[in-house]
Amino acid sequence: MQKSTIKDKLLLKNGEMIDPCQEKIERQDILINDGKIEKIKAEIDAQDDYKVIDLKGLKIAPGFIDLHTHLREPGQEDAETIATGARAALAGGFTRVCCMPNTNPSLSTQESMRFIREKAKLVDIDVMPIASITIDRKGRELTEFGELAEVGAVAFSDDGNPVENSQIMRNALEYSKLVDKPIINHSEDQDLKNQGIINESIVSTTTGLRGNPTIAEEIMIYRDLRLAEFTGAKLHIPHVTAKGSVDLIRAAQEKGVRVTAEVTPHHLSLTDEYMHSFNTLGKVAPPLRSESDRQALVEGLKDGTIDAIATDHAPHTYNRKETSLDLAAYGMIGLESAFGLVMTKLVHEDQLSLIELIKKMTTMPAAIIDIELPCFKTGERAEFTLFDTDEWWVFNEKNIESRSSNTPFIGQELTGRVKKVIIGNKVIEI
Ligand code: DOR
Repeated sequence: MQKSTIKDKLLLKNGEMIDPCQEKIERQDILINDGKIEKIKAEIDAQDDYKVIDLKGLKIAPGFIDLHTHLREPGQEDAETIATGARAALAGGFTRVCCMPNTNPSLSTQESMRFIREKAKLVDIDVMPIASITIDRKGRELTEFGELAEVGAVAFSDDGNPVENSQIMRNALEYSKLVDKPIINHSEDQDLKNQGIINESIVSTTTGLRGNPTIAEEIMIYRDLRLAEFTGAKLHIPHVTAKGSVDLIRAAQEKGVRVTAEVTPHHLSLTDEYMHSFNTLGKVAPPLRSESDRQALVEGLKDGTIDAIATDHAPHTYNRKETSLDLAAYGMIGLESAFGLVMTKLVHEDQLSLIELIKKMTTMPAAIIDIELPCFKTGERAEFTLFDTDEWWVFNEKNIESRSSNTPFIGQELTGRVKKVIIGNKVIEI
């Protein structure tokens, strides 16, 4: 990755603008002055003092937003830091990420939130912290939502841990209305999960690995949907994996429940068949599911039940993955490979149009956490991701900027690649 700061006016020529805000695709030149969009026109002539970048063959979209990133700082800086995670984000075309609070200490206090915001000032992307729902994610006492929202919490989650106690979940939803932020509950009923480490299916039977059934996810989602309906609060369901869950969310949306949902690139690309390899890189929570579940996730994206694609980028050190399946940590990194995977699996397999995909990575996540997207308006800050939809490439270690490299996608052939990111007057070549 190479970064340059442009002092002159920057003219982006011949790019195809993918505008998810106005739902249109058109060839436009874009002039950027001092980091802001000065002009958008079909043809802008270059002047002597302009730095011109020819974008022939490239598409230009607003920077991607990831609702679900683990940056591991504070506490596990050997796996990731805000600085290395920000580089991984840029490599994947993400200009804004929401970081999860399962750090050490967790993001349960104003001090820990301020720590993230201070560190985030040093990186090129925007880091938006998600605070924990309960103190230290223990599921017992609610955090101070008002105080945490004041210092920038965009949502609340105990991610990695579900809120098991229904009364606490009800209270969390009630209080979240005061700050108008979504509650994001990790949906795995621990009793039904029963220490399962892969999907409960023919694969768990044949491998002898302990199964985690889809009903563990569905039961918790069902409870949370009913509580969201009852309280009228905003609920966002992270990393949906099961067909039954998609059906439940769709039915709730039809009733008017304020629920949104996300899916990860890995649950869209892999199934439990991968676990025949016994490779710990496929161990994630919730687990990789069956092909029919995977197809239901794609359907959910298509019909709008699932609003957003979110990476669940979960870096872990070599030792935490290089062990037996029952001891290995859950999670895989995801920022760098996300766009290539979803382009390959969704757009090139004719499941989603390009503009639909871009919406699920920009406007839809922005709406969920209620932030303004600069999009393509004059006067707005330049914040773009530029990509080639047709470049064929093989994902490898060199493409990883994260401090960790726990991904099963090394060696994966992908079609569609992020080439550059522009933030203000900085141009980052990927
Ligand atoms: O696979 C996962 N890893 N799922 C989670 O919900 C947590 C995450 C992590 O923090 O490693």
